[in-house]
Amino acid sequence: MKEIKGLRALVTGASSGIGEAFARLLATRGADLVLTARRQERLEALAAELMETHEVAVETIPLDLAAPGAPAKLLAAARGEDGAGRIDILINNAGFGLYGPFTELSWQSQAEMNQLNITALSELCHLFLRPALAADERVWLLNVSSVGAFQPVPTLAAYAAGKAYVLSMSEALSLEVAGTKVTVSCLCPGGTRTEFFKRSGQTLGGSLQQRALMSAESCAAIGLAGLFRGKRRIVPGALNRVSSFMARHSPANLAGRVAERVIRP
Ligand SMILES: NC(=O)c1ccc[n+]([C@@H]2O[C@H](COP(=O)([O-])OP(=O)(O)OC[C@H]3O[C@@H](n4cnc5c(N)ncnc54)[C@H](OP(=O)(O)O)[C@@H]3O)[C@@H](O)[C@H]2O)c1
Repeated sequence: MKEIKGLRALVTGASSGIGEAFARLLATRGADLVLTARRQERLEALAAELMETHEVAVETIPLDLAAPGAPAKLLAAARGEDGAGRIDILINNAGFGLYGPFTELSWQSQAEMNQLNITALSELCHLFLRPALAADERVWLLNVSSVGAFQPVPTLAAYAAGKAYVLSMSEALSLEVAGTKVTVSCLCPGGTRTEFFKRSGQTLGGSLQQRALMSAESCAAIGLAGLFRGKRRIVPGALNRVSSFMARHSPANLAGRVAERVIRP
């Protein structure tokens, strides 16, 4: 397993779910952390716990990443006033979904989702990688997409399309940086037990849907292992690997109808 003790990782969306699990795992392995999300108390409680339990340095930067200029503000704060704060690992995890027919969801909420899931994530990649490549630094970037990236998903239309963007851009970036000391990976989780469903308005149906969910801890662990092995695309769990393989090899209309049916309560 890659030795990451003493490296410094920035995790977005660290106040719950998969991001919180990433923070816990990185701290367990001795990495110092910069944690960001909007809910300040949650970030501070997590930071206090991790500093005490694992003797790592943890900073918190409470911020709405969908606000104008937020990615630049975040990286400037993480790097510190003199710009000397190193970031070795960036986990671009913050994101949310919106469940429902495209025209019934408000445009404003979908625009905010695109701003966070697509634009802020892309800007963070740019702000992080440009100086790292110029200085020939060894850094790792993990972008969180979704199995929704592999087919159109009616009732999650804009969310799934945004995650397809994240996957495509991450894989292209990974190819662009081949031969440098930069690693870019993309994690494509399937259904994972987090606050995602409550936030998206997607109610889960019977016990089958509930049982198919992965834990946030397993998802983050598979993501980190894949990142440090240099895997370009990481799909956690056999069920998700099989379903995404089938989606990629089926006509889009069939794959889309199946995906819509699978997530219907
Ligand atoms: N759970 C799943 O089934 C699933 C499946 C595929 C992909 N994913 C992806 O996994 C990632 C993590 O989601 P999760 O499942 O862990 O859900 P979650 O528990 O709802 O966590 C989402 C995180 O994003 C942060 N966030 C949301 N809006 C933000 C904003 N405007 N500015 C800054 N931070 C913001 C939230 O913090 P605050 O609310 O405190 O700001 C929270 O920390 C997302 O990109 C999601 O699309 C999840």
